[in-house]
Amino acid sequence: MNDSSASTARGRDLRIGLVGYGFMGRAHANAIRQVPHFFRESRRPVLQAVCGRDEGACRAFASAWDAAHVETDWRRLVEREDVDAVDICTPNDSHMEIALAAIANGKMVLCEKPIALDGDQGRRMVEAVESAGLPNLVWFNYRFLPAVTLARNIVAAGELGKVFHYRANFLQDWTISAEVPQGGTGLWRLDAKVAGSGVTGDLLAHCIDTARWINGEIVSVSAMTDTFVKERVHTATGRKEPVGIDDACAFLARFANGSMAVFESTRYARGHKALYTFEINGEHKSLAWDLHDLNRLAYFDHAVPGDRRGWSSIHCTDGDHPYAGKWWVPGLCLGYEHSFVHGLHEFMRRLDDPSIEQRYPDFRDALRTQLVCDAVLESARSQRWVEVAKA
Ligand SMILES: NC(=O)c1ccc[n+]([C@@H]2O[C@H](COP(=O)([O-])OP(=O)(O)OC[C@H]3O[C@@H](n4cnc5c(N)ncnc54)[C@H](O)[C@@H]3O)[C@@H](O)[C@H]2O)c1
Repeated sequence: MNDSSASTARGRDLRIGLVGYGFMGRAHANAIRQVPHFFRESRRPVLQAVCGRDEGACRAFASAWDAAHVETDWRRLVEREDVDAVDICTPNDSHMEIALAAIANGKMVLCEKPIALDGDQGRRMVEAVESAGLPNLVWFNYRFLPAVTLARNIVAAGELGKVFHYRANFLQDWTISAEVPQGGTGLWRLDAKVAGSGVTGDLLAHCIDTARWINGEIVSVSAMTDTFVKERVHTATGRKEPVGIDDACAFLARFANGSMAVFESTRYARGHKALYTFEINGEHKSLAWDLHDLNRLAYFDHAVPGDRRGWSSIHCTDGDHPYAGKWWVPGLCLGYEHSFVHGLHEFMRRLDDPSIEQRYPDFRDALRTQLVCDAVLESARSQRWVEVAKA
């Protein structure tokens, strides 16, 4: 930890207070460090303070990531005068409370996804941040991978013509054992009170954000969910308690542009660790992407003469590709962590110049994704098609 670095912070630095130092805390701290090295905004993000309830662990994190200050209560962090933006990396049940307190203290807010436990909480956050006029972001990071951004750019240019189909999967296998408990670091995902939902809010929210970004709004859904393990030991009580999350979810969707979609997510697909894939099929072209080969965009162009026509694989590592030219020489790969760097870069870029296109999801955008998640869960309960509420 470096207590003197606060005094060296420049007036135009964006001084970030990070809440939570788990998986996402590390991904964000890394992004804060890397943005100024590879992107040249006039403001520089600085990890000003980090907050966690375990002071020793928090100090170790602050030392590893060069944070100037440590807090053990987020209420104190959001009141700090030397913090411009609060970055929320805690489990979902605390997003709204921390965000509202940060906004009340005039802080910009960067919040992990999903925006909150449900759309009602999300609406309160949107109202608060928009009426305060504070810049805000939700970390749907997959948008910012070069191949995913390229897919979006190709579709936005109208190259696919009429879009017929969108399909996405997010498959994992880490909760198959009934011995995995619920509650605590990482495992809060299995506790519905803390997570809000299971794979729908955790994994499908990513697929929905990407889909909406690439193919526009989703207007209606028809879903089924299942909870394969009905009881798990809760780490807080040591007793077996009912499991309230969806272990698996599959849903059909209709987009506003008329195209149809299939989405599937599970934590019971033996052999898959984090297989996020999507494909979009239009009149003229198709595109497909796979997180396990994240630098490549599969591309099919029907305009190519028939005897040469086929799927090609665009390695999105050249200077022409989104973000790639800011890193290494052409042909060298980027990884998962770069998506967070690019997301923060987009936020910083727009702080510098609010007239440029906003390419990152803000609270209102994330609320739209949350409302799709809510409609999915409602459809699974009611076993009917459900219209997605308007944000
Ligand atoms: N964008 C992505 O790809 C992605 C990936 C993983 C998680 N997430 C999201 O990030 C958030 C955090 O997930 P994670 O995987 O980092 O979880 P985690 O369990 O690894 O870390 C959560 C952290 O929050 C801290 N925390 C919990 N309650 C707190 C409180 N009251 N005050 C201060 N600190 C508190 C914990 O001590 C821990 O450090 C969740 O909303 C999750 O959905 C997003």
